Amino acid sequence: MVEKKYGHFDDANREYVITDPKTPWPWINYLGNEDFFSLISNTAGGYSFYKDAKFRRLTRYRYNGVPMDNGGRYFYIKDGDTVWNPGWKPCKTPLDSYECRHGMNYTRITGSKNGVEASVLFFVPLHTWAEVQKMTLKNLSHEAKALKVFSFAEWCLWNAATDMENFQRNFSTGEVEIEGSTLYHKTEYRERRNHYAFYTVNTEIQGYDTDRESFIGLYNEFAEPEAVLEGKPRNSFAHGWSPIASHYIEVTLKPGESRDLIFLLGYVENEQDKKFSAKKVINKEKAHQLINKFDTTEKVDAAFAELNQYWDNLLNIFTVKSGNDKLDRMVNIWNQYQCMITFCMSRSASFFESGIGRGMGFRDSNQDLVGFVHQIPTRARQRIIDIASTQFPDGGCYHQYQPLTKRGNNDIGGGFNDDPCWLIFGTVAYIKETGDFSILSEQVPFDNQPGSEVSLFEHLKISMNHVINNLGPHKLPLIGRADWNDCLNLNCFSWDPNESFQTTENKGEGSKAESLMIAGLFVVTGKDYVALCKQLAKEAANSHEGTIAGLAEEDYLVEAERMQQAVDEMNEAVKQHGWDGEWVLRAYDFFGNKIGSNENEEGKIFIESQGWCTMAGIGLEEGLCAKALDSAKERLECEHGMVLNNPAYTTYHVEMGEISSYPEGYKENAGIFCHNNPWVIIGETVAGRGNDAWNHYTKILPSYVEEKYQTLHKVEPYVNCQMVAGKDAAKPGEGKNSWLTGTAAWMWYTVSEFILGIKPDYEGLNIDPCLPSTAHEYEVTRKFRGGEYHIIVKNPEGREKGVKQITVDGKTIDGTIIPCQKGKHEVIVEM
Ligand code: BGC
Repeated sequence: MVEKKYGHFDDANREYVITDPKTPWPWINYLGNEDFFSLISNTAGGYSFYKDAKFRRLTRYRYNGVPMDNGGRYFYIKDGDTVWNPGWKPCKTPLDSYECRHGMNYTRITGSKNGVEASVLFFVPLHTWAEVQKMTLKNLSHEAKALKVFSFAEWCLWNAATDMENFQRNFSTGEVEIEGSTLYHKTEYRERRNHYAFYTVNTEIQGYDTDRESFIGLYNEFAEPEAVLEGKPRNSFAHGWSPIASHYIEVTLKPGESRDLIFLLGYVENEQDKKFSAKKVINKEKAHQLINKFDTTEKVDAAFAELNQYWDNLLNIFTVKSGNDKLDRMVNIWNQYQCMITFCMSRSASFFESGIGRGMGFRDSNQDLVGFVHQIPTRARQRIIDIASTQFPDGGCYHQYQPLTKRGNNDIGGGFNDDPCWLIFGTVAYIKETGDFSILSEQVPFDNQPGSEVSLFEHLKISMNHVINNLGPHKLPLIGRADWNDCLNLNCFSWDPNESFQTTENKGEGSKAESLMIAGLFVVTGKDYVALCKQLAKEAANSHEGTIAGLAEEDYLVEAERMQQAVDEMNEAVKQHGWDGEWVLRAYDFFGNKIGSNENEEGKIFIESQGWCTMAGIGLEEGLCAKALDSAKERLECEHGMVLNNPAYTTYHVEMGEISSYPEGYKENAGIFCHNNPWVIIGETVAGRGNDAWNHYTKILPSYVEEKYQTLHKVEPYVNCQMVAGKDAAKPGEGKNSWLTGTAAWMWYTVSEFILGIKPDYEGLNIDPCLPSTAHEYEVTRKFRGGEYHIIVKNPEGREKGVKQITVDGKTIDGTIIPCQKGKHEVIVEM
């Protein structure tokens, strides 16, 4: 059976083109990349917020609604008796044509009906706290058209959580102001808020509505607003209840004529003493300035061109030409784009993440960093400092922090014992990309307490120490609340359905619960830390002050040796107590029993420890890595990727917690948790097995999935999702939790550094590809520290690994590191 297709890639325009509005799930995009963000689906559903989707939500969105994806920025076009929307929803009037183009931080939705075309371009201009909606109306018919256009936005009362619960207050607080064509939302502005929002259009309006009930009617739906159906705005003025913003514009078009209407949804903050221009009247000065910046087609087109230029520059830093479109479009466009989105959102706001529950994850954000550090290193630098500022003096840290305040989130607290290691991971990636060692001298507080500052290097050191100071009976790392797998809760023992596995009181005392995942992670990051210390010793020796971050050459050498010893000991502990015969154990539980062992009936093998211990190269010489990788292939792999554990748990195990709460094949219980597949793929490249690496990689590469199963997969075919239902699930292959997942950064890290093999290092670019034997030649252009390298990798014999020779500008170099040089360089790599 041929699968139904809902869209296709348009690589030349860097777009995904959706051609049927009834996608198997809303396929969304993100607007904005700094402070102001919007989520937008292919039918214009979604919402906008400033910085924090919980505390500064501008427009309302109802998750898990019926029908799905209800609420958004809607334009109703009334043409005679027909009312339609360019994005099909909410009226769902059958359109004569429909197309949605999701591009880099913009979306263009075009619909046509009865000889009228409406095309709306949505984007957030750079450095702007507003969403532009440029609507182009075109009369394609031979008669004149008299159209009635109604816009629609529904205000949220800023805090998205209380918006959904505190109605006894909320229904009395709503306030608006109207000035010309601008509808202002100023709820709670009279007291502690210094922010308001507005919705405007760059033309005179013939009416408006600001009260939802007046516009829609109490028992009507978004599909049938009374005002629209009658073609008469109510000119309503909201007092309490549910404020909205709707413009009414009469548009007449001669045959062939077209007209632009520019709508702007903006956000303003005022200083405390400049809040009002008169009693009860908000100070609109900043709103006027903002409106003025985008009130003509020319200004908007220029801002759009700037946004596209911005993306040209970001995506020009790393490009591949491999002759394989499916690889090239992911590497050159979509994987890098998704990395930027995960950088901006962490795990907070998507169509699966409500924007309320989670802030920025300590581990998540450090991992996301490797996905975008080459594009926006200065923001990566700031991110590292923000993350490290939520650490505690003992090296532990808050598991999450709020983006608006940058403060650790007390609700979830700390105690996830993998967290500290990730700080090394992120920081090392930053320094290798930029060569900026000065970040290590930055003075960074603990738990954001002024006066507690120490150097960032000191933070890294205590991060490592946190692992060493928390070893269990087998000299393996104690797991704490959980490691990367938030759902393997070995100290939780919860029987109460009303408590969260993540936050409930843990029984740490007397616990023997140890993690082989943290063991592998510690060896990987420990080696990185040792290499960093050695590099710092060199830097200190060469610097005229003789120190870096306050330490001298000898200090770093002593520190390198201390940590090398700890790494060696961990290596031994894994080999002695972590090896199960054919693969690596996953953990020891509270009582010291094995998890992820052939001795277990279910959950015999887990992916995380196979990934991390092979990435760490533990037992590489003795063949343990190859064995572990073979076991993973044999027991975890299926058509859609590698599952997390096998066999799946069929009952609840109180000693394991949330993992066994999921039905078989879903989420952490034997779902394909895409995030961890790259760990095994990198492990494969460490073992030099390019064919296996490629095979695993393409199974979860969106462009390969899109070709095969748009309907089965369900979620967006241009980005990775967190989880695909595994082989034990009712519907293997069904995707969920798209967009906000560490998979993005890991896929990027894997393909750019380990498959294509272009690895930033302290002294230059290290070239070490690991390829499928079918890859005979490819080119990469990589901008790096002021140089631009055009790298051609030649592999006529189809080798999987091993660089024979590298020439830079015609001269053979020693080893595999291309030294940093400014200007353009031709590099030929022979495998
Ligand atoms: C979380 C990660 C966690 C993963 C596995 C994700 O949803 O964001 O922090 O490592 O789940 O449990």
